[in-house]
Amino acid sequence: MAAAMARGWSGEFERMLFSDNGSGRARALAEELGGDAVANAELAERADFVVLAVKPAGLDAVATELEAANKVASILAATSLPRLREALPKAEVLRVMPNVGVEVRQGVLCVAGTASAEVRAKLALLGHVVEIDDGEFDEATAIMGCAPAYLALAVEALAEAGAAAGLDEELARELVVETTAGTAELLRVRHPADVRAAVASPGGSTEAGLEALDREGAREAFAAAVAASLERMRG
Ligand SMILES: NC(=O)c1ccc[n+]([C@@H]2O[C@H](COP(=O)([O-])OP(=O)(O)OC[C@H]3O[C@@H](n4cnc5c(N)ncnc54)[C@H](OP(=O)(O)O)[C@@H]3O)[C@@H](O)[C@H]2O)c1
Repeated sequence: MAAAMARGWSGEFERMLFSDNGSGRARALAEELGGDAVANAELAERADFVVLAVKPAGLDAVATELEAANKVASILAATSLPRLREALPKAEVLRVMPNVGVEVRQGVLCVAGTASAEVRAKLALLGHVVEIDDGEFDEATAIMGCAPAYLALAVEALAEAGAAAGLDEELARELVVETTAGTAELLRVRHPADVRAAVASPGGSTEAGLEALDREGAREAFAAAVAASLERMRG
């Protein structure tokens, strides 16, 4: 996820610094985007602003190495602001939940906590920033952090169905991907129910398709996905 944010920020900053736990991903990113791979303590000393993107269980171990950091944005799932402030008492801490759209600057970033205008402007470069309460993060994550995977599954399944119906695989994917992009744009100005109604004329083929989706439990399947993600987040 940190790599997606860094790619979204590519070309915006004088320099980006990266660290990892020994895998070499930090060096590879530094080579890809320009910048340096350094140890956590050096990163905290040199950076204006640190994005903390380890797995939640790694918070305490890494926080001790980030003592010198004065501005930290944590993207750790299921890790509350009080918990972050306890681990990083000297820093201005912002809780952020981004999704993978940040890589193409069309992410959604839910935020809560303290942040300077400068930090907020950096986040806004990556997409649509929404202020939410600290207590809403799990539910928000279940529908915006996880959802790119669910929507990608829907695209994959539709394209596969198109190919099974006889279309060339590449063509089927292109048709579904571009339809998804256009529909996403339309959904910015129209309610989802209006879009459904506009496409599904009575007695038509879309109506038949929507009825089949209802019969097969499409809504229930999405509700189950959100419930399962929440259950995992809440341990
Ligand atoms: N995946 C998503 O879509 C998404 C969305 C929103 C938020 N998040 C949150 O983002 C965080 C990372 O998730 P992910 O999916 O990106 O996991 P990931 O691919 O496993 O990335 C975790 C990174 O943290 C590094 N790391 C671990 N310990 C470290 C240490 N002591 N010092 C420096 N770096 C260290 C790892 O280094 P190595 O490469 O050496 O292992 C790895 O590069 C999680 O807290 C997750 O809740 C993820």
